[in-house]
Amino acid sequence: MIVALNNKCNLGKEEFIKYVEELNNIKTTHQMILAPTFINIPNVKTTTLDLAAQNVSSDTNGAHTGEVSAEQLKSYNVKYCIVGHSERRDKQKETNEEIKLKIEKLFDQDIIPILCCGETKEERLDGKEKEIIEEELSIALDSLDEEKKNKVIIAYEPIWSIGTGLIPTNEQIEEINNFIKSKYNNKVLYGGSANDSNIDELKKCSSIDGYLLGGLSLKPSNLQDFVNKL
Ligand code: PGA
Repeated sequence: MIVALNNKCNLGKEEFIKYVEELNNIKTTHQMILAPTFINIPNVKTTTLDLAAQNVSSDTNGAHTGEVSAEQLKSYNVKYCIVGHSERRDKQKETNEEIKLKIEKLFDQDIIPILCCGETKEERLDGKEKEIIEEELSIALDSLDEEKKNKVIIAYEPIWSIGTGLIPTNEQIEEINNFIKSKYNNKVLYGGSANDSNIDELKKCSSIDGYLLGGLSLKPSNLQDFVNKL
């Protein structure tokens, strides 16, 4: 299983260095991927974690103030990159077309995208969750060649579940994951309030290939419990 840790905008330099030492002590056979904030990327000293970024520029190197390119990420041995997180779609107004460009830039540098998708509470109440997810995935992925497309890791993250403690039922997760898997041959992670208390229930979903963890990513001792139970 993949366990991807999304630190979001957390941890200063010293805190982060101590945090990585604690993560290095976690005992697991699962694949752990760490996505720190950009400025902490050079401070990742590890032999057990794969390195990810939380975002990438849709442009190549050049006059793009405040951006970080895929080429720059590659030079820091970044292997994976989250794209299309709902927080960026919402606050930075990232569009599906821009996310598609980001994915292309990542593949130019052999960095594997972790593509987030998921519906808001209103979209679910309106029964539009599959429509939204299909749109997010098809614009981002359908123009890629098959080899690249299959490498993308998809993360189903219902927006109403992120950071709220609200978890979809296993039936709801299986329904969406199986819908995604009926169209794409990709690994599908689940993200949204997953933790060491609800993992016993979540892990009954056979369609889940791993987890994208936000809040729990900041708690190494709970993470050890989480991977023990996986
Ligand atoms: P959460 O965040 O685990 O804190 O809900 C998940 C995410 O946003 O990737």
